[in-house]
Amino acid sequence: MSSQQYSPGLENVIAATSSICTLDLERHVIVLRGYNLVELATKTTYEDVAYLTLYGHLPNRREYMEFTSRLREYRDIPKEVVEILEKMSRDSHPLLMMKAAVATLAAYDPELEDNSLEANFRKAERIIAKLATVTAAAYNIPNGRGYIRPKNDLPHTSNLFYMITGREPNDLEARIFEQSFTMYIEHELAVSTFAARVVASSMTDMYGAVISALAALKGPLHGRANEMAAKMIIEISSPENAEKYIQRILDRRERVMGFGHRVYRRGIDPRAEKCREMLKELSDAKGSNYYEIVERVVEIMQAKKNLYPNVDFYIGPLYHLLGIPIELYTPIFAASRIAGWTAHIAEQQANNRLFRPRARYEGPRDLKFIPLDERE
Ligand code: SDX
Repeated sequence: MSSQQYSPGLENVIAATSSICTLDLERHVIVLRGYNLVELATKTTYEDVAYLTLYGHLPNRREYMEFTSRLREYRDIPKEVVEILEKMSRDSHPLLMMKAAVATLAAYDPELEDNSLEANFRKAERIIAKLATVTAAAYNIPNGRGYIRPKNDLPHTSNLFYMITGREPNDLEARIFEQSFTMYIEHELAVSTFAARVVASSMTDMYGAVISALAALKGPLHGRANEMAAKMIIEISSPENAEKYIQRILDRRERVMGFGHRVYRRGIDPRAEKCREMLKELSDAKGSNYYEIVERVVEIMQAKKNLYPNVDFYIGPLYHLLGIPIELYTPIFAASRIAGWTAHIAEQQANNRLFRPRARYEGPRDLKFIPLDERE
């Protein structure tokens, strides 16, 4: 096998064809089924963009009303899932609980083993609806708040906000939470999405592929960065402390969470630009200095490492100002990205080819076997 086939981390390798999303670096646009994702996130609802992500076109009014009513009907989760979460250890990270919940939900889906496109779409709708409920339950149950049932008279993201915080968002909070939530919905072959496609290519069930995506998202190099970036901003606590704090991280040759991106190497993540505006608006409304701290950290990272902030850098402080518990930031990422993951799983299985790459072997060869009792 020739060496030019190998690229560490598959950097710059086209690993699949897809009609769902592409990161258009020349035009600085995240293209989602032909539309500008950031424009969609600021102009319409999460449900509208989720329908587009799954089905490939924006719904007409009838399709929209039927889709949103199905999602509301699917929101509640079986009592067996609640019981599993109640039995898990109190200090389990919500993402661990989400994996257990999705595995349990699989056992109650009558179409689990049907990988046809139609059945995969029906399963996708059920998982999209339920993962939001599971996200809130994965925090509420271990924290003694019990299972807070979804309200069916609220839109998808306001209902998630309600289940997490126990109160309905005001207009500003609802708009900012829904727009930032929708920013996360899909982003081409991120490692969690790629993991889902690889697992789905064995023609296993959609739930199993979703669990692999959740596992990948938990990593600090991927989804967990938003939680860690928020903790960093809170610890820095004022713009004057930023330089020393960041330098200490760099001196330890560690990563500053929320900066850098495998694809956005020479420019900022388009989603981050919009989330930056929202953070300024919310910081001003709440009388917080988070925006000033964040701006100072961006200046320092640009000067010292020539690195740009990614979407996770802004989402963390944004969600902290919304009163959302820090351990839920990555689960909320999952609750949004589930639309992208399930769309990719359905696309993969509709026109599948098993992922089975080769490895460039660098180990020894032609060693002589020595029986156990003759070895030193
Ligand atoms: C998401 O793929 C997606 O689309 C993901 C995502 C999505 O929507 O799904 O956009 C969401 O996961 C965003 C990324 C969140 N992760 C973080 O913020 C964690 C911190 N970031 C890094 O770990 C890193 O930037 C990655 C993992 C995101 C990208 O890493 P790469 O492409 O493997 O880059 P690299 O490790 O080769 O780094 C290149 C150089 C290195 O310097 P040298 O060792 O060559 O001297 O840049 C440095 C790195 O040390 N570097 C950083 C850094 N990121 C890269 N140095 C300090 N802090 C950082 N954050």
